[in-house]
Amino acid sequence: MLNISNLSVSYSTDSGIANAITDLSLDVNEGETMGLVGESGSGKSTLGLALMRILPKNARIVSGSMMVYGKDLMSLSRGKMRRMRGETISMVFQGAMNSLNPLMTVEKQVSEPLLIHGKANMREALATAHDILGKVGLKSSAWKQYPHQLSGGMKQRAVIAMAIITNPKILIADEPTTGLDVVTQMAIVRLLKETQREMNITMIFISHDLPVVAKIADRISIMYGGRLMESGTTNDVIRNPRHPYTSKLLASVPDISGNQIISGIPGEPVSALRLPAGCLFRERCEIALKECASYNYDVSFEEKDHRAYCINSGAL
Ligand SMILES: Nc1ncnc2c1ncn2[C@@H]1O[C@H](COP(=O)(O)OP(=O)(O)OP(=O)(O)O)[C@@H](O)[C@H]1O
Ligand SMILES: [Mg+2]
Repeated sequence: MLNISNLSVSYSTDSGIANAITDLSLDVNEGETMGLVGESGSGKSTLGLALMRILPKNARIVSGSMMVYGKDLMSLSRGKMRRMRGETISMVFQGAMNSLNPLMTVEKQVSEPLLIHGKANMREALATAHDILGKVGLKSSAWKQYPHQLSGGMKQRAVIAMAIITNPKILIADEPTTGLDVVTQMAIVRLLKETQREMNITMIFISHDLPVVAKIADRISIMYGGRLMESGTTNDVIRNPRHPYTSKLLASVPDISGNQIISGIPGEPVSALRLPAGCLFRERCEIALKECASYNYDVSFEEKDHRAYCINSGAL
């Protein structure tokens, strides 16, 4: 139902052109959760913003297409795209729980999307907000509170409520568990899973945390430097990684809060301002070959739905 083909997105910056996404192709099936994983700067949020068609002004969709139910998002007028955002596709923005309006009560903020999209009057919007707030597990005592009176988990529930109040078919959740303690992270994962099932939502779950993603995703796509490295069912990717970058992500150990990958992967991620030729991961890769310097991203491992872009995956 969601087909991204050969998408490239760049930003123009004072230091030059940043290639945030390069030639990315990805299909998401109706009703499934696609986990999108990669280190900071790998282009995950850019992909979400591109799908919502709300990239910042300095961004450019260089090439490719994004089809939703067979409609190309790029060919839609502003008005039609706005309607798409009110009816079909919605996003939990990265860090949204920290940028809630401090002067607005929870129920008012959650009801806003319905008012903005002209779907309800104030009274109806509040009634729907109460219904949704109950569904995401916020008790009525919290409805009239302000963001600073809520815990991180409660704020995240409110943000999720705001994203699903328009009854979307597709939900992009960008780092919805980041900054929360482990127990709360798991509660939010459970909530999103239940919501997805109940509302029959197709979800893109974005996170740098592969173990968290593995708990919720049906399929996983691994990004690095704006390119797809590997994709497949969660089971295949976790049990039988075919890209050395995926193996390294699996071997990384989260810190006590379950958040940052501390043992990490040696070396720095590539810079979108200076992408090297050949395989983007080769400089940090323990099994790199000379040929990796001229790799052109033909699929190198393919078994049913499992694909990896590495010419030496046989060495894993
Ligand atoms: N508004 C912007 N202007 C210029 N460059 C940007 C902008 N937003 C993102 N970038 C660059 O695009 C690349 C991809 O960034 P993006 O935010 O999509 O990555 P991400 O995977 O979401 O990272 P994180 O895990 O930190 O959220 C990075 O190199 C980033 O510096
Ligand atoms: Mg991001």
